[in-house]
Amino acid sequence: MKRILIVGAGGQIGSELTAYLRKIYGGANVIATDVRECRSLGDDGPFAVLNALDPHSYGYTVNKYKVDAIFNLVALLSAVGEKDPQLAWNINMGALMNSLDIARQYGCALFTPSSIGAFGPSSPKDNTPQDTLMRPNTIYGVCKVTGELLSDYYFHKYGVDTRSVRFPGIISSETLPGGGTTDYAVEIFYDAVKTGRFVCPVSPDVYMDMMYMPDALAACVQLMEADPGRLVHRNSFNITAMSFTPEILLAEIRRHWPDLRMEYMIDPVKETIARSWPNSLDDSAAREEWGWKPEWKLPETVADMVRKIAARREAGEI
Ligand code: SER
Repeated sequence: MKRILIVGAGGQIGSELTAYLRKIYGGANVIATDVRECRSLGDDGPFAVLNALDPHSYGYTVNKYKVDAIFNLVALLSAVGEKDPQLAWNINMGALMNSLDIARQYGCALFTPSSIGAFGPSSPKDNTPQDTLMRPNTIYGVCKVTGELLSDYYFHKYGVDTRSVRFPGIISSETLPGGGTTDYAVEIFYDAVKTGRFVCPVSPDVYMDMMYMPDALAACVQLMEADPGRLVHRNSFNITAMSFTPEILLAEIRRHWPDLRMEYMIDPVKETIARSWPNSLDDSAAREEWGWKPEWKLPETVADMVRKIAARREAGEI
């Protein structure tokens, strides 16, 4: 990767990936784009407003900056997708199809995240294998499985250098996720620091895979820089760093903030989705094919989040 385009850079992953990539590859070589103006993304490198659903502006931007790698981070997440499935399909698949075709046309490598949401109620729940039954029952999951198949297809038919990971819920302190089922694991820190109280939308005993942002960022670069000859999977790789329930997360946060109160008000959509996803993934294929190895477990993640969110509160940012 030398000249990188990030599409959907204003979101939870993109806002931190932009800064991370600029440190490694140089500010001028990482072009951040989003459908909305995002002032901070233009501070240390190029930023452009780009609607990924418009193939002409997308192709123009790739050509203008002589891009050789694209991160397609455009997505409507799982819970919000259920409110308007047709819109979710149009945005998620529209951005992906344009990314695949433009990557093919301009000879770019393409990273598109898949998700634990690609699995469904009939997938094995524990230690969910890399290659297994995938029949998700959300539109988000349907888009992710379709995207995985298309990534394979474009690799085999056209030689497009497609790469992907199935991200678990991502915990981060800079930009909130929006409309996902795993969002509770981020929102709890914000509410804890602001009100000392959190209302959790999923049951205390539901396990889901999670990861701290520094591991997610490292995964993006490691996979994109991996030797293509070693990559057997071109659809997507299971990756995970930890798996916990709301109850386990609460206990860990209370080691720092003992007064945090938590109540449960179950959101039926999120609850059904959470119960349909794996408890924990088997990420051995990623470890074997490109050396994936997470660094952040739950205690260190929580300690770091508590420190950062408290500092942002003190600075009046949240
Ligand atoms: N974090 C996403 C969601 O909850 C899953 O990839 O929708």
